[in-house]
Amino acid sequence: MTKTIAFANQEGGVGKTTTTVNIARAAITDHGFKVLVVDADPQGNATKVLAPKHQGTQTCSLATVLDKSNSSPISDAIRASEWANLDVVPAGGDDLANAAQSLVTIKAGRESRLKKAIADISDQYDLILIDCPRVWTSCLSTRSLQQTPLVVVAELGQFALDGLDRLLDTVEIIQQYTNPELTIAAAIVNGVQKTKRMGHWMNELQGALINLPAPVPLLSPPVQRASFIAAAQESGRGLDPWGTVKARVLHQTYADYLTSILHSIDNGENRNDAEV
Ligand SMILES: Nc1ncnc2c1ncn2[C@@H]1O[C@H](COP(=O)(O)OP(=O)(O)O)[C@@H](O)[C@H]1O
Ligand SMILES: [Mg+2]
Repeated sequence: MTKTIAFANQEGGVGKTTTTVNIARAAITDHGFKVLVVDADPQGNATKVLAPKHQGTQTCSLATVLDKSNSSPISDAIRASEWANLDVVPAGGDDLANAAQSLVTIKAGRESRLKKAIADISDQYDLILIDCPRVWTSCLSTRSLQQTPLVVVAELGQFALDGLDRLLDTVEIIQQYTNPELTIAAAIVNGVQKTKRMGHWMNELQGALINLPAPVPLLSPPVQRASFIAAAQESGRGLDPWGTVKARVLHQTYADYLTSILHSIDNGENRNDAEV
């Protein structure tokens, strides 16, 4: 069964794209999966890293798939990435922001466009990863992510955790009013710097996640802030061929994260089956 996972946080620059890209890499190299990354952020950073030839406005992209007047099948928007067994649906630059905006004015079916589009091609992949935008527009949130587990990517510190609180509140509101099936499969901490307060903030985060109505597993170890992570991403290379022990170890951490996320999703599905 194909799994779809969306990486989310309402804050920008916390590591959503970094996590999406490195988990995609571990999925193809260590898990032997065929993977599709859907770049749902008009900034197009996942596309820049994975399929740089296809960044910016495109004849076919997620923008044209979601466009209400000119919608094309998602299969037309799929592009081969620079890595074997990994395809990308480019965001389509500003067109994606415009398409999302235009969908606000139509009523029927606007929330389900992304979900339907993904369902059309899901049997071609083992894993589909959605790199979410910072701002959730109507077509990229609520029902469009129905039954798609979220993985929250968070930083530590007061401001970061305030932001996370806002995200968890949003998820709760979505669960209550529009999409009771929205679940958070796991949380990943990114960009940790070793300071005296780090342990304190990890405990705060752990407490917040455990006290949710549906407790969310916090994956460990957290990802440290390290220049090689940004450098590998900027050059479109995976951490496994980067050539340092630290990069190789981190690559393995992402592979282990994926194992834990898939486990958490399976547990959630089994729980839901038992409740029926
Ligand atoms: N752990 C990290 N260490 C060093 N740089 C990082 C780390 N995580 C992300 N970055 C860099 O920070 C910037 C923002 O990260 P990104 O993944 O694009 O965030 P988001 O998708 O949440 O906006 C990028 O330039 C990325 O390379
Ligand atoms: Mg991003």
